[in-house]
Amino acid sequence: MSIESIQQEALLAIETASSVAALNEVRQQYLSKKGSVASLMNTLKELDPEERKSFGAQVNALKQSLEAAFETAQTRLEAIELALNLKKEALDMTLPGTTMVSGTLHPLTMVTQAIEDIFLGMGYHVVEGPEVELDLYNFERANIPANHPARDMQDTFYIDVEWLLRTHTTAIQTRALEASAPHVPLKVICPGKVYRKDDDDATHSHQFMQIEGLVVGEGVSMANLKHTLETLAKAMFGEERKIRLRPSYFQFTEPSVEVDVSCHICGGKGCGICKHTGWIEVLGAGMVHPHVLKIAGYDPDKVSGFAFGCGVERIAMLKYGVDDIRHFYTNAKPFLSVFKRFE
Ligand code: PHE
Repeated sequence: MSIESIQQEALLAIETASSVAALNEVRQQYLSKKGSVASLMNTLKELDPEERKSFGAQVNALKQSLEAAFETAQTRLEAIELALNLKKEALDMTLPGTTMVSGTLHPLTMVTQAIEDIFLGMGYHVVEGPEVELDLYNFERANIPANHPARDMQDTFYIDVEWLLRTHTTAIQTRALEASAPHVPLKVICPGKVYRKDDDDATHSHQFMQIEGLVVGEGVSMANLKHTLETLAKAMFGEERKIRLRPSYFQFTEPSVEVDVSCHICGGKGCGICKHTGWIEVLGAGMVHPHVLKIAGYDPDKVSGFAFGCGVERIAMLKYGVDDIRHFYTNAKPFLSVFKRFE
């Protein structure tokens, strides 16, 4: 084949190659070690010196012209392929996005965590305990005698004579007392589920949540308790809240108090929520009974303590204006989604 026809054939192939890959195949065919141009070079040695010179120059010119043509075609094809790819992979920024649906913390978890946070900041530890509990920790160590009505089959879910579903988080406290006696200070906050044989209605549930606090140390006093409760009330219901202590009775505290917080809805003037008294009862509290300290392994002549406890549902109902405790357990999506804005 003449140099000229090789050139024409090659230029046509370069011109009509429809992709970079196709162009590379054409390049192999003409410019590789076994390609047409190399074959022409191989014939040089068969020629006499004079012919060799001019033929060699022509083959070189062919090679250069083909290389230039390849270069131009490559640039053109690459640009076309890039444009096609951009078009294929283009994102339509005007399309509406897909909304990510995320859940929210359960309102009872929110309240529990908020209370835990307040006390972690004051150096307390969060402690948990078993829900299937020994009578020993739920009642006996809390100074609740065998004939006490709280121990009645009517009020408590018994598993057998020894085991029951704990009726209050005080069971966690009696365990914490035993575990740390005789060391002080002991500062714990104890959240958890508790169980009572109540008939479920808008304000009662056979299973609910409590959170209790307990401090034992030298010289711990009622004044410390009052300040702690005030801090809690303000953190949960607002800086302007006041508290009021009323005498009460719990077996494991002496003296015992019922704690009212000034109504966060009417500010204390009186409204439907506070039953027109200006006060809402939210906590039980008191100084740990010396006998409770003693049977746990503390010396009540050397150390003293205070404890307080409240229902998490009750706090959540007051804080978020929920009128039926059962909402917390039925967990309807519309109810739960409301709490997203409180996160
Ligand atoms: N355990 C009590 C209850 O279930 C609450 C409480 C806790 C009272 C700690 C005093 C001290 O009602």
